[in-house]
Amino acid sequence: MRINQFPAQQSLEKEAWEVLENSILYYQGRPVGTVAAYDTSIEALNYDQVFIRDFVSSALLFLIKGKTEIVRNFLKETLKLQPKERQLDCSKPERGLIPASFKVVTENGKERLVADFGEHAIARVTPVDSCLWWIILLRAYVMATENIGLAHEPEFQTGIRLIMELCLVSRFDMYPTLLVPDGACMIDRRMGIYGHPLEIQALFYAALRAARDLLLYEGNEDVIDAINKRLPALSAHIREHYWLDLNRLNTIYRFKVEQYGEDAHNQFNIYSDSLPCDKLDKWIPKQGGYLVGNVGPSQMDTRFFSLGNLMAIISSLSTDQQSQSIMNLIERRWDDLVGEMPLKICYPALEGQDYKIITGCDPKNRPWSYHNGGNWPVLLWMLAAAAIKTNRQNLANRAIEIAQRRLSDDEWPEYYDGTHGRLIGKEARRYQTWTIAGFLLAKELMKNPAHLTLISFEQVSIQPASRAIEFELNSYGSYIYYR
Ligand code: GLC
Repeated sequence: MRINQFPAQQSLEKEAWEVLENSILYYQGRPVGTVAAYDTSIEALNYDQVFIRDFVSSALLFLIKGKTEIVRNFLKETLKLQPKERQLDCSKPERGLIPASFKVVTENGKERLVADFGEHAIARVTPVDSCLWWIILLRAYVMATENIGLAHEPEFQTGIRLIMELCLVSRFDMYPTLLVPDGACMIDRRMGIYGHPLEIQALFYAALRAARDLLLYEGNEDVIDAINKRLPALSAHIREHYWLDLNRLNTIYRFKVEQYGEDAHNQFNIYSDSLPCDKLDKWIPKQGGYLVGNVGPSQMDTRFFSLGNLMAIISSLSTDQQSQSIMNLIERRWDDLVGEMPLKICYPALEGQDYKIITGCDPKNRPWSYHNGGNWPVLLWMLAAAAIKTNRQNLANRAIEIAQRRLSDDEWPEYYDGTHGRLIGKEARRYQTWTIAGFLLAKELMKNPAHLTLISFEQVSIQPASRAIEFELNSYGSYIYYR
């Protein structure tokens, strides 16, 4: 059995690499990214563009394989697309944003890059995650090349600073979390994830830590100071208010409401009647827990979102104990979350009236399809990374085993449908690049777990020792800093 499996796996990886290499986009003769999908059987729509979030999987893989040039080109070109001037015209993207995607256009024999900040996307959604992924990837590049030179170039320092200003300066609310519109991340259609969705908060946390590592201190004292204050506030907020396990469910179930002032226990005025407490009571295992999808005024979205939870583990946004509990939950609820193809993008799906009202009757997001409870193979690499981080490699191996049984035969689809991910996604593209890269990246991470450092952050030291601050929450609920 083993003797036969080895060559089969090798040819599977070889095939995946070939498809991945076919997806590389060239600009003025240089590789600058990978297109979202290379499926010639259907109309490309915008899948022939390089999406920032999609390219991260390919980029990490290229970095691991020493192919750093394509990642450097990508970082440089996308940086040029970032608006540098303050924008009062609402039809133009704000200073600091990085586009959702870009393509190469040829005019009079000359090539140029054209960015899409959401103005050409379905429903004109804003790609908030792009600028966060961009910083995270820049740090990965620095780690892989062991050379901080690129990040220290003046244009890069400006680029990081502008992103930080965009996230830290202008705001309406006074939460440590980032306020965003619906569909501002991987789930880029209406799915009721406006406000403070977990995915954005986990990426925000990782981006803050990455920016802190990359920014030169001189000239950026104010931003670094703001990051130092925001990081502990953000992690304490998420660890407390987003956390859900049986203990916490008990507290929430008996929450007092309509409390005023600083001492309010139920800070967000959550009415437990608005939550599916019975279902959660049955679903959450004794040793398990997770970070909920969204918390805001009288709002707690208790859906499980995989990307946010896995990135919280990888970036150390969750505590070690919470990370173990999340992995316990994935293990105990394997059929629901992994089933026949890793991994559910969110669980459970919105059904009935919820589906109609919250998605706006979106036919692509019917219950258990696409963003609404579909299974997305790209998430495999994040599961592998989180499994390594928590020393639960067996879970990643099981998931890879399941994925490799089907992915190639199914022609590397974008996503799967059904409660257990048994159906190839109704409108899924074939040869979706991040499906391929996500699979290969998961394999590479498992082969050499040391590569995890490219994307992960340590629990304790959140910045270089010279400027280190530690933090804890005192008993009055404010933060104490040690410099
Ligand atoms: C879909 C996904 C989005 C992805 C894009 C390109 O719109 O929802 O996350 O970036 O396809 O693959």
